[in-house]
Amino acid sequence: MTVKINYKKASLKKTSSNLVLFVDEKFNVHPLKKYISNSEFLYISDLLKISDLTKNMFVFELSSKKKIVLVSIKKNIKNFEIENLGAEVYGIINYGKKNEYLVNLDSLPSNQKDFIGYFLHGLKLKSYEFNKYKSKKNTRLITVNVHGHKNKPSTNTSIKFKALEEGTFFTRDLVSEPGNILHPDEYAKRLNSLKKYGLKVNIYDEKKLKKLGMNALLGVGQGSIRGSYLVTIEWNGLKNNTKPLAFIGKGVCFDTGGYSLKPAKFMEDMTYDMAGSAVVAGLMKNLALRKAKINAVGVVGLVENMVSGNAQRPGDIVKSYSGKTIEILNTDAEGRLVLADAITFTEKKFKPKFMVDLATLTGAIIVSLGSEYAGLFSNNDKLSNQLIEAGKTVEEKLWRMPLHKNYDKLINSKNADMQNINYVGGAGSTTAAQFLQRFILNKTPWAHLDIAGMAFSKYGGALNSGGATGYGVRLLNQLIEDNYE
Ligand code: BES
Ligand code: MN
Ligand code: ZN
Repeated sequence: MTVKINYKKASLKKTSSNLVLFVDEKFNVHPLKKYISNSEFLYISDLLKISDLTKNMFVFELSSKKKIVLVSIKKNIKNFEIENLGAEVYGIINYGKKNEYLVNLDSLPSNQKDFIGYFLHGLKLKSYEFNKYKSKKNTRLITVNVHGHKNKPSTNTSIKFKALEEGTFFTRDLVSEPGNILHPDEYAKRLNSLKKYGLKVNIYDEKKLKKLGMNALLGVGQGSIRGSYLVTIEWNGLKNNTKPLAFIGKGVCFDTGGYSLKPAKFMEDMTYDMAGSAVVAGLMKNLALRKAKINAVGVVGLVENMVSGNAQRPGDIVKSYSGKTIEILNTDAEGRLVLADAITFTEKKFKPKFMVDLATLTGAIIVSLGSEYAGLFSNNDKLSNQLIEAGKTVEEKLWRMPLHKNYDKLINSKNADMQNINYVGGAGSTTAAQFLQRFILNKTPWAHLDIAGMAFSKYGGALNSGGATGYGVRLLNQLIEDNYE
């Protein structure tokens, strides 16, 4: 579905078109008399008298041609709640048959800054569909004409919303692609195309990775007919040498589990095991599009975890980029192997202010937190709190989980410096995070976001209609905006 939005300065008088009107939290419709006919006013007020006014909005079918959507704006409404209302209105428009709606901004009962910007941001995010592989495309075009001039975002703010939408859609597109299309070779190419936005992209292929000694990452990809890559994406919005913020992503294009093979039921979703890297890519695109005044670097490890005569075996021992050796007891605990090398490399090469990694790392985080919160693991309280606050602002929530030296002990190995799964069992998401922490060599502030439950939504959420959610792009953008710009 394509949504086209036009802004019209002229105020709306009475009209026969489909209309979105705003009212206060008590659904006081008196101020709307200016905009609707007397009979419409009486009809609506009568129905409201017998309605449950705790709802956000009502749809009134006045005739076969005209609908009025009444959206209630409570006092002190939060920006993400405005986004959610926009998304809900999208649902109403999408469900109906009419393709044109007028939004009467003058009816707004509050003075909330950038109100319509947030409202339309939510509406657009909800309208995303991935239908590239459907022969019958949804060609419907919806036009939303916004009338009035109350609380409209500035040009600058509009650019920010647009950048965030395009960044999020880039992430969703990448996550939605199936494994046969978006394998590491293709993925590296798509990331290379980010150069056109002014990003500096560096691709390390297998030959280079071997030379660098990234054997943890390479081991995961060695059973695939595709290449393995580490890709760095730099945005230098400050023309000085300020330490960059670093974002690191797991890019397992498909995770069969390797020889520790996944059962079919758990394997089918593993096309989205590259979501962490896609969030990093979408975030970097967003930063470039809105010309953020920061220095940042995205680092992603792209591999395919396959079974073949050349694939890694349980029991194999590899030497990581850090120099530490790892005993691979389970080839399905592969994400941490990819991230381990990416983390050490990022710390050494870029000396960042902090590192945030994102990964669909463990099924265990879904057991703990479901699809409501992502798991947050960190060695730094300040960074953690900044992330949690940013998450509350954009409603991409994080719950901090523990790290502790006693968990760390569980990944010691008899035969190598460590093993890639814990031998006692339990706390699977924490021991995965403990594993990652061992690859930070210089105490850089670090946070790990386990997004296994958040990257993909079977049934849709507030701002997505099902499929790839793009969770993380708006969260990290908010973190940057609030604390580092
Ligand atoms: N990619 C999976 C984790 C995952 C599971 C993501 C379900 C999204 C939905 C990861 O590589 C994995 O297989 N983890 C194992 C770790 C175990 C072998 C220690 C898991 O969670 O079962
Ligand atoms: Mn796995
Ligand atoms: Zn995986």
